Amino acid sequence: MKINLEYGLVKQHDIFAKDYQKKIREINANLHSEDHSAGTTWVHWPTDYNTKEFLKIQKLAREIKESSDALIVIGIGGSYLGAKAGIDMLAKKSKVEIIFAGITFDYYDLGAKLESLKNKDVTVNIVSKSGSTVEILSTLNIVERFMKNKYKSGYASRMIYTTSEGSYLYNKAVKEGSETLSVPENMGGRYSVLSAVGLLPFAVADIKIRKILEGAKKAQDDLDNENVSENIAYQYAIYRHLLNKKLNKKVELFSTFHTQLSSFNFWLQQLFCESEGKDGEGMFVSPLTFSTDLHSVGQFIQQGTPFVAETFLTVENSAKDNTLSNIPLGSPIKFLDGKTFSEINYAAFDGTVKAHREAKVPICIISIDEINEFNFGYLVYFFELACGASGYLLKVNPFDQPGVEQYKAYMKENLKK
Ligand code: PA5
Repeated sequence: MKINLEYGLVKQHDIFAKDYQKKIREINANLHSEDHSAGTTWVHWPTDYNTKEFLKIQKLAREIKESSDALIVIGIGGSYLGAKAGIDMLAKKSKVEIIFAGITFDYYDLGAKLESLKNKDVTVNIVSKSGSTVEILSTLNIVERFMKNKYKSGYASRMIYTTSEGSYLYNKAVKEGSETLSVPENMGGRYSVLSAVGLLPFAVADIKIRKILEGAKKAQDDLDNENVSENIAYQYAIYRHLLNKKLNKKVELFSTFHTQLSSFNFWLQQLFCESEGKDGEGMFVSPLTFSTDLHSVGQFIQQGTPFVAETFLTVENSAKDNTLSNIPLGSPIKFLDGKTFSEINYAAFDGTVKAHREAKVPICIISIDEINEFNFGYLVYFFELACGASGYLLKVNPFDQPGVEQYKAYMKENLKK
């Protein structure tokens, strides 16, 4: 993984300023403390993960692959976005279809998904750290009925609960004899993708989960360093802080020209917005996929209110490609004859960077050599560490989400009437 801050419009010596180095030393000590009660279990996770549970995940995945055509994953927010990011980025040859549910109260969506599974064999993975989220329990109520109709008393062996020990869902699973996997203590949803929350769906989709953890471990080793000059996660965190506080940027666009990374950008949106957006602080994060979004919001980026910065996620080598050929004379794209799709994609990326630089949009480019499990694990750990540090630089708690509670309170009031 590489990061290029050359076009960031932030001066190198500001990133490496003594004051930031001093703050980062404290932040690094907090994040790497052996006391994880602040919510930092994920920091040591690539070395500390539960190997027994890892083997259980692999065993369950094997069983699901033998018994099922589809896995319904019921989860929301951090219990969903990381898993979706990994599936969309890495799942290539999955025999089992991974279907996400619990993400809205829109029955049009859930009903259609269940209808499509009428004649298929299904396993359900319910993912909820708290075990009490209304979206999850409501969806489960309907999915459970579907499973009981299909499998009668055998339904419980097709339900796997990923939740905290002692939660309502955990007790339900134990009572009904269903399998459980854990959401580790002091690991908030948006930091939990490398636990069973993401690993079970990944393993079912034939994604190499050991390689993901190896990538994360490499990032953990590379980034366990309090020296800003040697730590790209802390450089990026300081860069973001300068964008926000010095250049007055209010929005960070996560832009990619690779559709496989689109869902990863949605995970990043949650990671940063939920971690930093409190006490009147933080930059709003917006995920974009190009070139489609260039035809919708590109105009704003180029000439609109100058409050955006842009972080590109890019891949050097595409796994799949095709070449344009036999373009007729007179076609407006005759000059593309013989060019590959990835050459055109690169030209679009390079042209966009040039155009947005001309418009004085600060640009950061984060690149990986190819899309694979190792790089996914590395990126996840890199961004989690950068986000933790970035939140602490803003003096907010990056590991809670008190603001999410209010809508739930009002929704419950409405439904109790
Ligand atoms: O990141 C978070 O902590 C949240 O987005 C939660 O994951 C989300 O609210 C779902 O909560 P739970 O996993 O308890 O159902």
